[in-house]
Amino acid sequence: MAQVLTKPIPVKAGNGRVPGATADKPGGGKPMISSTRIARRVRQLGRQISETYADIETPLVIVVILKGATVFAADLLRCLSIPAELEFVRASSYHGGTSSSGKLQLAHMVDGTLVGRHVLLVEDIVDSGLTVNVIAKRIKRLNPASLRIAALLDRPARRVTEVKIDFCGFVIPDRFVIGYGLDYAGLYRELPHIYSLT
Ligand code: IMP
Ligand code: MG
Repeated sequence: MAQVLTKPIPVKAGNGRVPGATADKPGGGKPMISSTRIARRVRQLGRQISETYADIETPLVIVVILKGATVFAADLLRCLSIPAELEFVRASSYHGGTSSSGKLQLAHMVDGTLVGRHVLLVEDIVDSGLTVNVIAKRIKRLNPASLRIAALLDRPARRVTEVKIDFCGFVIPDRFVIGYGLDYAGLYRELPHIYSLT
């Protein structure tokens, strides 16, 4: 079951750069989700996914949505106990802001065929739902044996289209978040914790 966050959980700031740090507030913003909590949850998801696909006859195809989901996917992949292949799709809808432009660009689809394969689409955060839904629709046209969605974060407040997230890390409140692969204007992906920017 996804963990529902109603307010940021204070943890020690750690050694990385801390967004929001100023002379009066040297500690900066506290992480919303610490790297320890993320790691624990990713291990649980890895186990759950491995159990779900325990009996499939071909390796699972992990399709990672670039760029935000790369950090999550890399950790998740190493928590699987089943064979998996790795593919990438490139989508972009934010264009440097903190709210979706609504226009989705798909710059790259997977290499090779997905016919008859079990596909797991991996996303960093489901917001409006447009990104995963558009990509899921495109993948379904390629006739996979099954298609499921794993998302580290679910922010249901701004959903405009229904999305079934099969494996969800955390449900978060209506805040723009950065860190652990998630960016603001291309920055902050390297932060080990997840922070709220708004
Ligand atoms: P959606 O299409 O509105 O669901 O937006 C999902 C995409 O927007 C994700 O793939 C993220 O890359 C990006 N995104 C949405 N919310 C955030 C956020 O809070 N921080 C960073 N990126 C975000
Ligand atoms: Mg993204």
